[in-house]
Amino acid sequence: MRILIKDNYRDVSVEAASMVTTTLRQKPGAVLGLATGSTPLGLYEELVRIHRGEGLDFSDVTTFNLDEYLGLTGEHPQSYRSFMDENLFNHINIRKERTHVPDGSLPAGDAEEMCLEFEAAIRRTGGIDLQVLGIGGNGHIAFNEPGSSTSSRTRLVALDERTIKDNARFYSSEDEVPRFALSMGIGTILEAREILLLATGEQKAQAVAAAVEGPVTNQVPSSALQLHPRVTVILDEAAASLLQNASRYRFIQKAEKQVGVQLF
Ligand code: F6R
Repeated sequence: MRILIKDNYRDVSVEAASMVTTTLRQKPGAVLGLATGSTPLGLYEELVRIHRGEGLDFSDVTTFNLDEYLGLTGEHPQSYRSFMDENLFNHINIRKERTHVPDGSLPAGDAEEMCLEFEAAIRRTGGIDLQVLGIGGNGHIAFNEPGSSTSSRTRLVALDERTIKDNARFYSSEDEVPRFALSMGIGTILEAREILLLATGEQKAQAVAAAVEGPVTNQVPSSALQLHPRVTVILDEAAASLLQNASRYRFIQKAEKQVGVQLF
């Protein structure tokens, strides 16, 4: 794993945007895996800025989002489809038909078929080139909650108590937070060619330390990322504050600049 520790949220977002931009300049038809939530907002803002200011082209790009709440239509203001439209897709020249978010409006009984089709659609594009991830306070990635299998695929999942509490900030009460979601599996995520995990704020410090330096265990779903050969983790100081090897990561970060290569 490549661990980059930045001074603040803005620097995390700028670094992440630079990685996405490099991917798109090398492969204009790249397939991106995208996350929602508070963490990638700065990244999306920066991508919109680069699109407007430097002409970053999304016309050949395809995207797959990690997850969606069950029971919300794409038009619902709290749906992840609305989130992506509002924060990224409406502001860049991406073709909407190439943006994929699991369909949360289907009855639960149709979820299995929809999830199989979602996976098939990823395969038809040739697979995800770069997957952007956030991390839950409980160590989840996408909505793979503690206990999820490392080989899990896109499926219907029940949200964890902590996730429901964490996400209540977007709703008028905790009771309104959906209890189920459709989520890419850990096995699906690990098939991406490259992974970018972003985490900021001290409320993520414990999960980050467990994911990066703890044992690989299904109690910390993000620890499965240690099994992938090309993962970059970009943290702010607060999210990195419980890392035992922080000074070594900083040393490697400097060495990377000196030799001009990425050290995973
Ligand atoms: C969102 C997702 C989640 C979030 C995680 C962190 O698509 O898959 O795993 O990345 O819950 O959320 P924030 O960034 O809001 O702290």
